[in-house]
Amino acid sequence: MSFPITRLRRLRKTATIRNMVRETEVNRNDLIMPYFVLPGENIANPIKSMPGNFQLSIDKLVEEVRDLVTRTGVDKILLFGIPAEKDETGEVACQHDAIVPQAIRAIKAELPQVMIVADVCNCEYTKHGHCGTIMDGDVDNDSTLVTLAAQSVTLAKAGADIIAPSDMMDGRVAAIREALDANGFSNTPIMAYSAKYASGFYGPFRDAAESAPQFGDRSTYQMDPANADEALREVEADLEEGADMVMVKPALSYMDIISRVKMTYNVPVVAYNVSGEFSMVKAAAANGWIDEQRLIKEILTSLKRAGADVIITYHAKEFVLSELEKG
Ligand code: PBG
Ligand code: ZN
Repeated sequence: MSFPITRLRRLRKTATIRNMVRETEVNRNDLIMPYFVLPGENIANPIKSMPGNFQLSIDKLVEEVRDLVTRTGVDKILLFGIPAEKDETGEVACQHDAIVPQAIRAIKAELPQVMIVADVCNCEYTKHGHCGTIMDGDVDNDSTLVTLAAQSVTLAKAGADIIAPSDMMDGRVAAIREALDANGFSNTPIMAYSAKYASGFYGPFRDAAESAPQFGDRSTYQMDPANADEALREVEADLEEGADMVMVKPALSYMDIISRVKMTYNVPVVAYNVSGEFSMVKAAAANGWIDEQRLIKEILTSLKRAGADVIITYHAKEFVLSELEKG
Protein backbone atom coordinates (compact mmCIF):
# COMPACT_ATOMS: atom_id res chain seq x y z
CA MET A 1 0.00 0.00 0.00
CA SER A 2 1.37 3.45 -0.91
CA PHE A 3 0.35 6.57 0.96
CA PRO A 4 -0.11 10.05 -0.54
CA ILE A 5 2.74 12.56 -0.49
CA THR A 6 0.45 15.41 -1.38
CA ARG A 7 -2.18 15.83 1.31
CA LEU A 8 -4.56 18.61 0.42
CA ARG A 9 -6.33 18.10 3.72
CA ARG A 10 -3.35 19.71 5.51
CA LEU A 11 -4.61 23.15 4.51
CA ARG A 12 -8.13 22.36 5.68
CA LYS A 13 -7.25 21.28 9.19
CA THR A 14 -8.42 24.30 11.16
CA ALA A 15 -10.63 27.32 10.61
CA THR A 16 -7.54 29.50 10.90
CA ILE A 17 -5.66 27.79 8.10
CA ARG A 18 -8.79 27.63 5.93
CA ASN A 19 -9.29 31.36 6.43
CA MET A 20 -5.68 31.93 5.42
CA VAL A 21 -5.78 30.06 2.12
CA ARG A 22 -9.33 31.02 1.09
CA GLU A 23 -9.28 32.31 -2.50
CA THR A 24 -12.59 34.11 -2.71
CA GLU A 25 -14.54 36.28 -0.32
CA VAL A 26 -17.69 38.22 -1.07
CA ASN A 27 -17.94 41.60 0.57
CA ARG A 28 -20.49 44.37 0.59
CA ASN A 29 -18.63 46.37 -2.07
CA ASP A 30 -19.36 43.63 -4.61
CA LEU A 31 -23.13 43.79 -4.18
CA ILE A 32 -25.97 45.73 -5.79
CA MET A 33 -29.48 45.57 -4.30
CA PRO A 34 -32.46 45.87 -6.70
CA TYR A 35 -35.65 47.78 -5.87
CA PHE A 36 -39.06 48.28 -7.49
CA VAL A 37 -40.63 51.73 -7.32
CA LEU A 38 -44.19 52.82 -8.10
CA PRO A 39 -46.23 56.04 -7.89
CA GLY A 40 -48.12 56.98 -4.74
CA GLU A 41 -47.31 57.51 -1.11
CA ASN A 42 -46.78 55.26 1.83
CA ILE A 43 -47.05 52.11 -0.28
CA ALA A 44 -45.17 48.87 0.35
CA ASN A 45 -46.83 46.06 -1.60
CA PRO A 46 -45.26 42.73 -0.75
CA ILE A 47 -44.21 40.80 -3.86
CA LYS A 48 -45.65 37.36 -3.14
CA SER A 49 -43.27 35.41 -5.34
CA MET A 50 -40.23 37.23 -3.89
CA PRO A 51 -40.58 37.09 -0.09
CA GLY A 52 -39.06 40.11 1.63
CA ASN A 53 -39.25 42.31 -1.50
CA PHE A 54 -41.79 45.07 -2.10
CA GLN A 55 -43.12 47.48 -4.67
CA LEU A 56 -42.35 50.74 -2.88
CA SER A 57 -43.57 54.28 -3.31
CA ILE A 58 -40.77 56.85 -3.44
CA ASP A 59 -41.07 57.90 0.22
CA LYS A 60 -40.85 54.26 1.34
CA LEU A 61 -38.01 53.57 -1.07
CA VAL A 62 -35.93 56.41 0.35
CA GLU A 63 -36.59 55.04 3.85
CA GLU A 64 -35.61 51.55 2.77
CA VAL A 65 -32.43 52.66 1.01
CA ARG A 66 -31.43 54.64 4.10
CA ASP A 67 -31.93 51.50 6.18
CA LEU A 68 -29.88 49.47 3.71
CA VAL A 69 -26.97 51.90 3.78
CA THR A 70 -26.90 52.50 7.52
CA ARG A 71 -27.30 48.88 8.59
CA THR A 72 -25.27 47.07 5.95
CA GLY A 73 -23.00 49.58 4.23
CA VAL A 74 -24.30 48.34 0.86
CA ASP A 75 -24.41 51.59 -1.10
CA LYS A 76 -25.32 50.47 -4.60
CA ILE A 77 -28.85 49.92 -5.84
CA LEU A 78 -30.58 49.02 -9.10
CA LEU A 79 -33.95 50.60 -9.84
CA PHE A 80 -36.96 49.30 -11.75
CA GLY A 81 -40.12 51.34 -12.26
CA ILE A 82 -43.80 50.50 -12.38
CA PRO A 83 -45.46 53.44 -14.15
CA ALA A 84 -48.95 54.82 -13.58
CA GLU A 85 -49.66 54.56 -17.31
CA LYS A 86 -48.20 52.38 -20.04
CA ASP A 87 -48.07 53.08 -23.78
CA GLU A 88 -47.09 51.36 -27.04
CA THR A 89 -43.40 52.32 -27.20
CA GLY A 90 -42.21 52.98 -23.67
CA GLU A 91 -42.07 56.71 -24.24
CA VAL A 92 -43.67 57.25 -20.79
CA ALA A 93 -40.27 56.33 -19.36
CA CYS A 94 -38.55 59.15 -21.27
CA GLN A 95 -40.44 61.94 -19.51
CA HIS A 96 -38.74 64.12 -16.92
CA ASP A 97 -41.35 63.11 -14.35
CA ALA A 98 -41.38 59.39 -15.09
CA ILE A 99 -41.34 57.23 -11.99
CA VAL A 100 -37.67 56.19 -11.95
CA PRO A 101 -36.25 59.68 -12.64
CA GLN A 102 -38.42 60.99 -9.78
CA ALA A 103 -37.14 58.25 -7.49
CA ILE A 104 -33.54 58.96 -8.46
CA ARG A 105 -33.90 62.66 -7.60
CA ALA A 106 -35.52 61.83 -4.26
CA ILE A 107 -32.78 59.38 -3.28
CA LYS A 108 -29.98 61.69 -4.43
CA ALA A 109 -31.49 64.58 -2.43
CA GLU A 110 -31.34 62.58 0.80
CA LEU A 111 -28.61 60.02 0.21
CA PRO A 112 -26.19 61.46 -2.33
CA GLN A 113 -23.56 58.82 -1.53
CA VAL A 114 -25.72 55.99 -2.86
CA MET A 115 -24.73 54.79 -6.31
CA ILE A 116 -27.80 54.35 -8.48
CA VAL A 117 -27.80 51.95 -11.40
CA ALA A 118 -30.77 52.59 -13.67
CA ASP A 119 -32.09 49.64 -15.66
CA VAL A 120 -33.01 50.78 -19.16
CA CYS A 121 -35.74 48.86 -20.95
CA ASN A 122 -39.25 49.33 -22.27
CA CYS A 123 -41.02 46.21 -21.00
CA GLU A 124 -42.20 47.81 -17.76
CA TYR A 125 -43.60 50.72 -19.76
CA THR A 126 -45.33 49.12 -22.73
CA LYS A 127 -48.89 47.79 -22.70
CA HIS A 128 -47.78 44.68 -24.58
CA GLY A 129 -44.94 44.04 -22.13
CA HIS A 130 -42.24 43.62 -24.77
CA CYS A 131 -38.87 45.35 -24.49
CA GLY A 132 -39.36 47.51 -27.58
CA THR A 133 -41.63 48.87 -30.27
CA ILE A 134 -43.74 46.26 -32.05
CA MET A 135 -43.75 46.15 -35.85
CA ASP A 136 -45.16 43.25 -37.85
CA GLY A 137 -45.72 41.19 -34.73
CA ASP A 138 -42.16 41.41 -33.40
CA VAL A 139 -39.96 43.90 -31.57
CA ASP A 140 -38.40 46.24 -34.13
CA ASN A 141 -34.71 46.71 -33.41
CA ASP A 142 -33.91 50.15 -34.77
CA SER A 143 -36.97 52.09 -33.66
CA THR A 144 -36.42 50.65 -30.18
CA LEU A 145 -32.90 52.13 -30.15
CA VAL A 146 -34.51 55.57 -30.26
CA THR A 147 -36.60 55.04 -27.10
CA LEU A 148 -33.73 53.33 -25.28
CA ALA A 149 -31.41 56.26 -25.98
CA ALA A 150 -34.06 58.77 -24.90
CA GLN A 151 -34.83 56.85 -21.71
CA SER A 152 -31.09 56.68 -20.91
CA VAL A 153 -30.66 60.43 -21.28
CA THR A 154 -33.69 61.09 -19.04
CA LEU A 155 -32.24 58.78 -16.37
CA ALA A 156 -28.79 60.36 -16.59
CA LYS A 157 -30.29 63.84 -16.28
CA ALA A 158 -32.15 62.71 -13.16
CA GLY A 159 -28.82 61.68 -11.63
CA ALA A 160 -28.37 58.00 -12.45
CA ASP A 161 -24.75 57.01 -11.87
CA ILE A 162 -24.75 54.04 -14.23
CA ILE A 163 -26.96 53.21 -17.22
CA ALA A 164 -27.81 49.52 -17.58
CA PRO A 165 -29.61 48.53 -20.80
CA SER A 166 -31.38 45.16 -20.45
CA ASP A 167 -33.30 45.02 -23.74
CA MET A 168 -30.95 42.96 -25.96
CA MET A 169 -31.44 45.07 -29.11
CA ASP A 170 -28.47 45.05 -31.50
CA GLY A 171 -26.52 48.28 -31.39
CA ARG A 172 -28.12 49.67 -28.22
CA VAL A 173 -24.84 50.32 -26.43
CA ALA A 174 -23.57 52.46 -29.31
CA ALA A 175 -26.89 54.31 -29.57
CA ILE A 176 -26.98 54.98 -25.83
CA ARG A 177 -23.30 55.97 -25.64
CA GLU A 178 -23.78 58.45 -28.46
CA ALA A 179 -26.89 59.96 -26.85
CA LEU A 180 -25.25 60.21 -23.42
CA ASP A 181 -22.15 61.87 -24.88
CA ALA A 182 -24.22 64.31 -26.91
CA ASN A 183 -26.00 65.39 -23.72
CA GLY A 184 -22.95 65.95 -21.58
CA PHE A 185 -22.82 62.54 -19.90
CA SER A 186 -19.59 61.21 -21.37
CA ASN A 187 -18.54 60.18 -17.84
CA THR A 188 -21.61 58.06 -17.14
CA PRO A 189 -20.67 54.37 -17.44
CA ILE A 190 -22.74 51.78 -19.26
CA MET A 191 -23.31 48.42 -17.59
CA ALA A 192 -24.61 46.31 -20.47
CA TYR A 193 -26.78 43.26 -19.94
CA SER A 194 -24.68 41.62 -22.65
CA ALA A 195 -25.38 37.91 -22.31
CA LYS A 196 -29.00 37.99 -21.27
CA TYR A 197 -30.81 34.73 -21.84
CA ALA A 198 -34.52 34.09 -22.55
CA SER A 199 -35.02 32.49 -19.17
CA GLY A 200 -37.71 30.95 -17.04
CA PHE A 201 -35.83 32.32 -14.04
CA TYR A 202 -37.34 35.79 -14.59
CA GLY A 203 -40.84 34.63 -13.64
CA PRO A 204 -41.10 36.30 -10.20
CA PHE A 205 -39.57 39.55 -11.52
CA ARG A 206 -42.33 39.90 -14.09
CA ASP A 207 -44.90 39.82 -11.28
CA ALA A 208 -42.86 42.37 -9.37
CA ALA A 209 -42.37 44.73 -12.31
CA GLU A 210 -45.69 43.91 -13.97
CA SER A 211 -43.77 43.43 -17.20
CA ALA A 212 -44.78 40.00 -18.55
CA PRO A 213 -45.18 39.97 -22.35
CA GLN A 214 -48.88 39.91 -23.30
CA PHE A 215 -48.20 37.75 -26.38
CA GLY A 216 -45.36 35.44 -27.38
CA ASP A 217 -42.08 35.49 -25.47
CA ARG A 218 -38.72 37.23 -25.60
CA SER A 219 -36.82 34.63 -27.60
CA THR A 220 -36.50 36.81 -30.71
CA TYR A 221 -34.24 39.15 -28.76
CA GLN A 222 -32.95 37.46 -25.61
CA MET A 223 -30.42 34.65 -26.03
CA ASP A 224 -31.08 30.95 -26.42
CA PRO A 225 -30.04 29.19 -23.16
CA ALA A 226 -28.31 26.56 -25.28
CA ASN A 227 -25.68 28.97 -26.61
CA ALA A 228 -22.29 29.92 -25.20
CA ASP A 229 -20.16 31.02 -28.18
CA GLU A 230 -22.88 33.50 -29.02
CA ALA A 231 -22.55 35.04 -25.55
CA LEU A 232 -18.96 35.93 -26.36
CA ARG A 233 -20.09 37.60 -29.58
CA GLU A 234 -22.65 39.63 -27.62
CA VAL A 235 -20.03 40.68 -25.09
CA GLU A 236 -17.55 41.58 -27.81
CA ALA A 237 -20.13 43.67 -29.66
CA ASP A 238 -21.09 45.55 -26.50
CA LEU A 239 -17.45 46.22 -25.61
CA GLU A 240 -16.75 47.51 -29.11
CA GLU A 241 -19.75 49.80 -28.84
CA GLY A 242 -18.41 51.23 -25.59
CA ALA A 243 -19.79 49.16 -22.71
CA ASP A 244 -17.76 49.71 -19.52
CA MET A 245 -19.02 46.57 -17.79
CA VAL A 246 -20.70 43.48 -19.15
CA MET A 247 -23.33 41.34 -17.50
CA VAL A 248 -24.29 37.70 -17.60
CA LYS A 249 -27.89 36.96 -16.66
CA PRO A 250 -29.22 34.75 -15.09
CA ALA A 251 -26.24 33.72 -12.99
CA LEU A 252 -26.46 30.23 -11.54
CA SER A 253 -27.22 28.21 -14.65
CA TYR A 254 -24.75 30.37 -16.57
CA MET A 255 -21.59 30.21 -14.49
CA ASP A 256 -19.76 28.72 -17.47
CA ILE A 257 -20.59 31.91 -19.36
CA ILE A 258 -19.40 34.11 -16.48
CA SER A 259 -16.17 32.17 -16.43
CA ARG A 260 -15.60 32.28 -20.20
CA VAL A 261 -16.37 35.99 -20.40
CA LYS A 262 -13.99 36.73 -17.54
CA MET A 263 -11.21 34.64 -19.06
CA THR A 264 -11.68 36.05 -22.56
CA TYR A 265 -11.99 39.78 -21.83
CA ASN A 266 -10.21 41.73 -19.13
CA VAL A 267 -13.23 43.77 -18.14
CA PRO A 268 -15.47 43.99 -15.09
CA VAL A 269 -18.07 41.22 -15.22
CA VAL A 270 -21.43 41.55 -13.49
CA ALA A 271 -23.58 38.55 -12.57
CA TYR A 272 -27.31 39.02 -12.08
CA ASN A 273 -28.58 36.53 -9.49
CA VAL A 274 -32.14 36.85 -10.78
CA SER A 275 -35.57 36.67 -9.18
CA GLY A 276 -36.22 32.97 -9.85
CA GLU A 277 -32.85 32.04 -8.35
CA PHE A 278 -33.71 34.10 -5.29
CA SER A 279 -37.20 32.66 -4.96
CA MET A 280 -36.05 29.05 -5.23
CA VAL A 281 -33.86 29.60 -2.18
CA LYS A 282 -36.72 31.29 -0.32
CA ALA A 283 -39.18 28.51 -1.15
CA ALA A 284 -36.81 25.75 -0.07
CA ALA A 285 -35.98 27.66 3.12
CA ALA A 286 -39.67 28.19 3.91
CA ASN A 287 -40.07 24.41 3.72
CA GLY A 288 -37.15 23.90 6.07
CA TRP A 289 -35.25 21.97 3.40
CA ILE A 290 -32.05 24.01 3.36
CA ASP A 291 -29.97 26.23 5.61
CA GLU A 292 -30.84 29.54 3.97
CA GLN A 293 -27.94 31.76 5.07
CA ARG A 294 -25.45 29.03 4.28
CA LEU A 295 -26.89 28.61 0.78
CA ILE A 296 -26.89 32.34 0.09
CA LYS A 297 -23.23 32.62 1.05
CA GLU A 298 -22.35 29.59 -1.07
CA ILE A 299 -24.20 30.99 -4.09
CA LEU A 300 -22.64 34.46 -3.90
CA THR A 301 -19.18 33.04 -3.27
CA SER A 302 -19.53 30.68 -6.24
CA LEU A 303 -20.50 33.54 -8.54
CA LYS A 304 -17.44 35.50 -7.51
CA ARG A 305 -15.23 32.42 -7.83
CA ALA A 306 -16.60 31.88 -11.35
CA GLY A 307 -15.39 35.35 -12.32
CA ALA A 308 -18.04 37.88 -11.35
CA ASP A 309 -16.62 41.13 -10.01
CA VAL A 310 -20.03 42.52 -9.16
CA ILE A 311 -23.20 40.67 -8.15
CA ILE A 312 -26.72 42.03 -8.44
CA THR A 313 -28.77 40.12 -5.89
CA TYR A 314 -32.01 40.39 -3.93
CA HIS A 315 -30.07 38.66 -1.13
CA ALA A 316 -27.67 41.61 -0.73
CA LYS A 317 -29.18 43.10 2.40
CA GLU A 318 -29.84 39.88 4.29
CA PHE A 319 -26.46 38.47 3.30
CA VAL A 320 -24.54 41.38 4.78
CA LEU A 321 -26.77 41.50 7.85
CA SER A 322 -26.18 37.82 8.48
CA GLU A 323 -22.40 38.20 8.00
CA LEU A 324 -22.38 41.13 10.46
CA GLU A 325 -24.30 39.04 12.96
CA LYS A 326 -21.68 36.32 12.76
CA GLY A 327 -19.07 38.98 13.50
C1 PBG B 1 -36.29 43.84 -18.15
C2 PBG B 1 -35.60 43.05 -17.11
C3 PBG B 1 -35.89 41.76 -16.67
C4 PBG B 1 -35.04 41.49 -15.61
C5 PBG B 1 -34.21 42.60 -15.46
N1 PBG B 1 -34.57 43.55 -16.40
C6 PBG B 1 -36.95 40.81 -17.05
C7 PBG B 1 -37.10 40.30 -18.41
O1 PBG B 1 -36.22 40.42 -19.25
O2 PBG B 1 -38.18 39.77 -18.64
C8 PBG B 1 -35.03 40.23 -14.79
C9 PBG B 1 -34.59 40.35 -13.39
C10 PBG B 1 -34.94 39.24 -12.49
O3 PBG B 1 -35.55 38.22 -12.88
O4 PBG B 1 -34.59 39.36 -11.31
N2 PBG B 1 -35.79 43.72 -19.43
ZN1 ZN C 1 -37.28 44.48 -21.02
